[in-house]
Amino acid sequence: MHATRILIASVFMLCWSPAVAAWGPNGHRIIGQIAENNLTDAAHKGIAELVGRASLAQIGTWADEIKSDPAWRHASPWHYVNAPPGQDIETASKSPRGDVIEAILRFERVLRDPEADRKERAEALKFLVHFVADVHQPLHVGYASDRGGNDIRVRWFGESTNLHAVWDEHLIEHQRLSFTEWVRFFGHAEPGEIEAWRRSTVWDWARESRSMLPAVYDHGGSRSDRTPYLGYDYIFKHHDGVKKRLLQAGIRLSGMLNDIFASP
Ligand code: ADE
Ligand code: ZN
Ligand code: ZN
Repeated sequence: MHATRILIASVFMLCWSPAVAAWGPNGHRIIGQIAENNLTDAAHKGIAELVGRASLAQIGTWADEIKSDPAWRHASPWHYVNAPPGQDIETASKSPRGDVIEAILRFERVLRDPEADRKERAEALKFLVHFVADVHQPLHVGYASDRGGNDIRVRWFGESTNLHAVWDEHLIEHQRLSFTEWVRFFGHAEPGEIEAWRRSTVWDWARESRSMLPAVYDHGGSRSDRTPYLGYDYIFKHHDGVKKRLLQAGIRLSGMLNDIFASP
């Protein structure tokens, strides 16, 4: 009896994982690298003045790295925005602690502010690169009731995980490509797409994420063991969607930075 309890406790602890942050490191690197490849010379120069030789692929993960620093605890709500099912993101009541849409607009203002000092602007740039990526992850514009899918337990092939982590990491990592390989294979958009995608607002990006949720939650691979089983069917269904979100995020991030750092 006692041994069984220990076993159950150990299994529970092995399965328990802290809430994951955002697109995993590679998702952020992919988006950062796509943006980097689409910067104007003026933007490259402006960015180098703030963060030196670091590329957008490198600085895009900083906002997750500081999550374990108590001094930055107040920044955790900035990675997502939630609204109850059936409610529009525009009209839903927002967290007074901030959210991903508010954070993008706020850090864009800091970067455009000639009065802001270099350290503040460098921080704003690092946050902006990260949050433009996050708002393109459908479950970062999700439901508070399941913490953006973090509370939805699923099986990814054999592994116990959650729906949020599937979208942050597993769908990308399944391809076993480095971020540079991913960008080389899939990181190119047509001029028409680039133009159309950039002609949109942060609110549009959030609405697009939101509109993906019914399909994200439709884990049709579910079997009789109650924990939904996600595998090849789910990958096949979402392959193009994941690709498009990563590409859109990178293209839009570069558009925003090209505009911010355009020579007056
Ligand atoms: N915590 C609460 N809601 C969340 C969301 N939508 N994404 C990530 N973490 C969350
Ligand atoms: Zn994040
Ligand atoms: Zn996430």
